[in-house]
Amino acid sequence: MVHEYKIYVGGKWVKSASGETFEDRNPADTRDIIGLFQKGNAEDVKSAVDAAQDAFEEWSSTPAPKRAEILFRAARLLRERKEALAQLISREMGKVLKEARGDVQEAIDIYEYCAGEGRRLWGRTTPSELRDKFCMTVRKPIGVCALITPWNFPIAIPAWKTAPALVSGNTIVMKPASDTPLCAIRLVEILEKAGFPPGVVNLITGPGEEIGKEIVTNPKIRAVSFTGHKDTGAWIQKEAGSRLKRVSLELGGKNPIIIMDDADLKLALDGVLWGAFGTSGQRCTAASRVIAHKKIYEKFVAMLSSAARKLRLGPGLNPATDVGPLINAAQLKKVADYGEIGKEEGAKLCCGGRVATEGKLKHGFFYLPTVFKDVTPDMRIAREEIFGPMVSVMKINDLEEAIHVANSVDYGLSSAIYTSDMANAFKAIEKIEAGITYVNASTIGAETHLPFGGVKQTGNGTREAGWTAIEEFTEEKAIYIDYSGRLQKATID
Ligand code: UN1
Repeated sequence: MVHEYKIYVGGKWVKSASGETFEDRNPADTRDIIGLFQKGNAEDVKSAVDAAQDAFEEWSSTPAPKRAEILFRAARLLRERKEALAQLISREMGKVLKEARGDVQEAIDIYEYCAGEGRRLWGRTTPSELRDKFCMTVRKPIGVCALITPWNFPIAIPAWKTAPALVSGNTIVMKPASDTPLCAIRLVEILEKAGFPPGVVNLITGPGEEIGKEIVTNPKIRAVSFTGHKDTGAWIQKEAGSRLKRVSLELGGKNPIIIMDDADLKLALDGVLWGAFGTSGQRCTAASRVIAHKKIYEKFVAMLSSAARKLRLGPGLNPATDVGPLINAAQLKKVADYGEIGKEEGAKLCCGGRVATEGKLKHGFFYLPTVFKDVTPDMRIAREEIFGPMVSVMKINDLEEAIHVANSVDYGLSSAIYTSDMANAFKAIEKIEAGITYVNASTIGAETHLPFGGVKQTGNGTREAGWTAIEEFTEEKAIYIDYSGRLQKATID
């Protein structure tokens, strides 16, 4: 019997008004059905938003350290359930267990970090230009926030968004990706058990289009935070932005790793393998371009291809697996199409380049780890986000050219340079257009207490995680206290 899961509205688990459900299957073996989930609709969103609006007054006036106590409890529950959640992530989303544990750990980290914020939520004090006058700022919640989360970090990203939103005093309506609804439900169960009052947290599963339309138009939603595809992000920016809602976007990446001739090649190889093929390349931060110095280019391509060929494909739950499946049939087709595009564009295929159907792999969405060499910056495989286990290697003559190539795409999320020369490292830090630059480390592995986000078409300037997550979910109010006892005119007296 396949279990039917519910949505969470106003503190109750209920069925959707649509009366319909959808199925979710294991991407490593589609014979395994995870469950049936509610096909939420606009009416459900309205109910959830009303519940969130009703809960806002009380929640926003609860002292932040008290709100934080609930976040601490949530962090503890996440810790207790870490292994079970990791197993679920592997089964529902496909990533290998080690990475799935990291996904849960990111959620624990951000919950603990944001719980600590309950005793900070810092504003500032600053001098006034006038005598006997005091100036300061305080942080206020925004109101009802809609959080739209992707499937690639099905616990971590919902945690990145819920934790800062909640500690700041907002109430939320979350809409998770339809490929990973159960992870979101398990997180919300934890939040319920941790003690968030009814209406503070709401969860609607279901089709993005209908739910999204209600989210961007509903006048009670004051902010929308979205992680996902660039085109959806642009649509949200347009629709929600034109209604003057606050919009935070984390979109794609085409993240480069520069490898200079003075780099430790073994270290660089480990970084490229981890960055390109970790999570089967399904990270916004995945390393999808290797920009290698001409002196080490052929040698590095050989090292990379031989190592990539040895990676073992399989279900994430199998401890012998290095690379798990892609999330669904559409994503597999997209990656396979890019494989063909690469070949047609004249890039040289070094390994992989096809769907894997051997043995049990035929039941899942597997694509072989793929390396293309002799890729040029104008090729589509060098410019477009693929979100799969496919990496393009390009040859450059010097650092200046490397940085030029690195910056020649529309995105700017993560980036890396391998070099033993400090001057090269600092030049790269200064010149690469990206929200994140790593030196002698891969493009993935952001820590939750630093700002996370990118430049150019990766987003709209906001940053998640760290102190910037609090900025994302608060309004900063300026306060002037005049104790002079007379009318004082700023800028005039
Ligand atoms: C993402 O790919 O959307 O730095 C998030 C990393 C992870 C987060 C990635 N900590 O790769």
